[in-house]
Amino acid sequence: MGEKIRIGALISGGGTNLQAIIDSCESEKIDGKIVFVGTDNPEAKGLARAAKHNIPTFVVDYSSIIREYRKNPGEMRLPGDFEMKDLLSRISLFPPETDSEKKEKFIATRAIAEAELIKKMKPYPFDLLVLAGFMRNLTPYFIDRINTDPGNPRIMNIHPALLPAFPGTDGYGDTFRYGSKIGGCTVHFIDYGEDSGPIIGQRSFQIDPDDTIDSIKKKGLALEWELYPECIRLFAQKRLKTVKMTYKRDDGKEVKRTVVKILKCEQ
Ligand code: GAR
Repeated sequence: MGEKIRIGALISGGGTNLQAIIDSCESEKIDGKIVFVGTDNPEAKGLARAAKHNIPTFVVDYSSIIREYRKNPGEMRLPGDFEMKDLLSRISLFPPETDSEKKEKFIATRAIAEAELIKKMKPYPFDLLVLAGFMRNLTPYFIDRINTDPGNPRIMNIHPALLPAFPGTDGYGDTFRYGSKIGGCTVHFIDYGEDSGPIIGQRSFQIDPDDTIDSIKKKGLALEWELYPECIRLFAQKRLKTVKMTYKRDDGKEVKRTVVKILKCEQ
C-alpha cells in the first residue's frame, strides 16, 4: 500500500456524502485521509460531522460576499491575479444569450469568494478535492489554481442525476418531474461547465409508479454513499486516466470529448 492520499472536501449542507467518505477512510476502504472540510454556508450541518472526527473546518460565506458586492461593488477588492477578460472567455456556465454585465458580476463575486477559499485551504495541502453537496459553481479562476497538472484533474463532484441529463441544483426533482423511469447519480471531474466534466462512475435505480420525490431522493442517496467512496478509491489507486477522444459519427461530424478510462487493478 502506498501513502494515504490527502482529501479536501467542500460541502454546503447535511454532509451525508462527507460522512460516507469519512467512514470509508476510517475503515480503510479508501487509502486516504480527509484534511479539511470547507463550506460556503455557515449553517451547514455537515460541519458538526467533520468536527466529530477532528477534521479542521472553515467557512467562506458566499451569500454575505454577494450581498456586499451588490451594495458596494466599487468597494470590493478583486483578487490581485484576477483577469476578467480571460475568465469570460473560458467560463461556460451561462446560456449564450446571457448579458455580459450579469456574467461579469457573477465572475467577480465568485472569484472573490474563491480567492478566500484558496487562502483558507492553503494550510492543508491535498491530492484530491471532493465536492460533497457543494452547491456553488466554481469558475476557471478556482479550477485552474487547483488543476495545476494538465491532463490530471483533481476536483470531483457528485451529482444527483444520470448526467448529462438534469444538470443543475435539483437533479432528483428534475428527474422525477420529467417522468423518467430510471434515476441515478453520477461522479465526475469538474470542468468549466455546469456538471459537464468527464464521468467517473454512475449508479441507477428504478422509479416505480408510487415513488415520490422524497422516495427517489432516498434511493439515490443510498447509491451516492456507495458510489462516491468507490470513485475516490479508484483515484487513490491511480486508476483514473482522462483521455481526449475524437469520434466520427455516422453523419460525418466529429465529436471530441474528454473521457475517463478506468485502469485495471495492478496486482
Ligand atoms: C446530494 O444528493 C448530492 O448529490 C447533491 O446534494 C446532496 C448533498 O447531500 N449535490 C448537488 O446537487 C450538486 N449540484 P449531503 O450534504 O447529505 O451529502
